[in-house]
Amino acid sequence: MKYSINLLYLLFFFSFLITSCGKKQTKQTIINCNSNVNIYYPSGYDKSSHTPSFAILNEPSPLEKVLDSSSLKVSFSEFSDRQIAQVSFGSNVDLYGTGEVMGDLIRNGKTVKLWNTDNYGYGKDNGQRLYQSHPWVLGVGENGKSFGVIADNTWKMEISLGERITFSSEGPAFRIIVIEKDSPQEVMKELGELTGTIELPPLWSLGFHQCRYSYYPDERVKSLADTMRLKNIPCDVIWMDIDYMQNFKIFTFDSIHFPDPKETNDYLHKNDFKSVWMIDPGIKAEKGFFVYDSGEKINAWVQTRNDSVFLGKVWPGDCVFPDFTQSKVSKWWGGLYENFMAKGVDGVWNDMNEPAVFETVDWTMPDSNKHVGDENIKNDIHLRYHNVYGMMMVESSRNGIIKSNPDKRPFVLTRSNFLGGHRYAATWTGDNNSSMKHLKQSIPMSLNLSLSGQPFNGPDIGGFAGNATPELYAHWIAVGAFYPFSRAHSTKGSINQEPWSFGEEVETVSREALQRRYRLLPYLYTLFWESANTGMPVMRPVFFNNPAEKYLRTEQENFLLGSDLLIIPKWSENGQIPAGNWRSISINGEKSQNHKYHPDVLIRPGAIVPLCNPIVSTNSFSLDTITLIVSLDSNLSAKGILYSDLGEGYGYQDGEFSLVEFYAQTQKGITTLNTKIIDGNSFPNDTKLNIKLIMDGEVRNSFGLIEESIIIND
Ligand code: NOJ
Repeated sequence: MKYSINLLYLLFFFSFLITSCGKKQTKQTIINCNSNVNIYYPSGYDKSSHTPSFAILNEPSPLEKVLDSSSLKVSFSEFSDRQIAQVSFGSNVDLYGTGEVMGDLIRNGKTVKLWNTDNYGYGKDNGQRLYQSHPWVLGVGENGKSFGVIADNTWKMEISLGERITFSSEGPAFRIIVIEKDSPQEVMKELGELTGTIELPPLWSLGFHQCRYSYYPDERVKSLADTMRLKNIPCDVIWMDIDYMQNFKIFTFDSIHFPDPKETNDYLHKNDFKSVWMIDPGIKAEKGFFVYDSGEKINAWVQTRNDSVFLGKVWPGDCVFPDFTQSKVSKWWGGLYENFMAKGVDGVWNDMNEPAVFETVDWTMPDSNKHVGDENIKNDIHLRYHNVYGMMMVESSRNGIIKSNPDKRPFVLTRSNFLGGHRYAATWTGDNNSSMKHLKQSIPMSLNLSLSGQPFNGPDIGGFAGNATPELYAHWIAVGAFYPFSRAHSTKGSINQEPWSFGEEVETVSREALQRRYRLLPYLYTLFWESANTGMPVMRPVFFNNPAEKYLRTEQENFLLGSDLLIIPKWSENGQIPAGNWRSISINGEKSQNHKYHPDVLIRPGAIVPLCNPIVSTNSFSLDTITLIVSLDSNLSAKGILYSDLGEGYGYQDGEFSLVEFYAQTQKGITTLNTKIIDGNSFPNDTKLNIKLIMDGEVRNSFGLIEESIIIND
């Protein structure tokens, strides 16, 4: 007994030493800014170690008067060689965000490592360190009042979410930015203000994507495309993984398997497909290889601590890695896309950009490697730039692609990224497993990525590593039709994972699932437009319907698509549904309520959701006929919005778009639907409206022309 008291005393003493004595409190300066944003600077803050900010695109503007209105307290300290920032936020706050992570939607009690890592099967560190870093936490308080915290720091860091939010970094002291608002939606919009939002993607990228590591030769690609069409399975994009390259050398094509990539792309285009081709950062260090030679001429490579060129192994063997901190390198890299895109490539997949380096302890390059920088970005070690390596790569890729095809909207998919990197690329969540666990996990993971500023994301449908069973694939494609980014992918050596690979039942489920997605395109595209304008996520947690309702805060099986549709996967047994009369809808004639796989889709009371006619490619997208699913609220009214444009190019920036609102109202027993042009062009007068009023237990159909006042329930 005596011993244990002494032991306790000793433990207490040492933890006191560690937490108090070793820790040196640091003073701080607070800058109050517009829109309820406060910036906290620790003393000893060295601007040159953190600027330009990678996350923040628009610096908040300081207020002239200093207020101390914040309900959050920020404190800075040093401990050993770490810089620590702590944010105290009071009690009963639910925490979200922290980017791409395994585990529950609610992040309280969790610790996340911000160190972009190639994490096959999410096995390393229990998935608490994945491919991307988002030094960002969203907090939602008891009455829905919310805050957001950005640690504006690219250096290696950890976020612990206990009674306080603790950021602990291996780099120099860093600033903290705090947003305080009345709701999580307002916080997300402010995050969008500060980091910038996505640009409107091309419509085709919202279609279904079919991928595999790897489809080759070209004949297999063509027959895959043919089978999609033959089987009437909606699909827009076929993906080419690394095996299209000559010996894995980027910007080259295998002379046997892809002798004429332009012809392959032409074939795909003729059949209403687009193509996406992979480009990795590792460049084979081989004299005579044009990418290596041209980069060598401008000293484009990341250096070792001893100022020699860093060599690391990736797919092609010994590789050099572009140092994107130099603007001349970024320009050179962008320029490589010109001939590549001219082969008819539609989109680019930047993979392995953590960067992954084989046969190393931590599967990446040493922290001590050197980046040269230039007048905009300071030279510094890899420890500082590791987490933004992928982000810098996709920014350079995107710029090059835009230069090559100035009239088209770029599409880039990246594995690695950083807070704010949604400005340059969409993302998928890396190498998941073909397991029910990872299918279920994909929902909180995509939701937290969405709550971290990246609206355009989704996992590998079917699972990457291992073999999907027919059951798993059916569940996954049925839910996957509702991810913002909807792509099936699987690894080398796995069984075929196409919609028809698992027999007739699963093929039918796949077709129906994707038909649902394609009919929803007008709604989905409007959500992406909203996201581009406001920073609001496309896929949203259920509590976004009513952030004050505590019982919705942990819901991570059901999710919202926009604000009007609630998706209820088949495994959701006790999933929470917000209050009010959310009614089940059939999008394309399917009966999901007792279906084995199709999630139930409920419409919010008071919503009007626009659909297009069934199509198998966005090439045939048309709004000649618009179906409106109408669900009245308790005031017997409903409202919906529809944004549309050409789905490609930039005409929309010069007024070539339509933004309309639909209103339904029941008065004296008669329900009428009206259309109002809000902005842009009106739809042609002969645009047909096909209205489905969802009542309890019945659907009332009526028809009319746009801009007419249409009586529904006669
Ligand atoms: C790793 C990526 O995560 C995976 O999706 C891809 O198929 C392989 N690299 C091969 O390129």
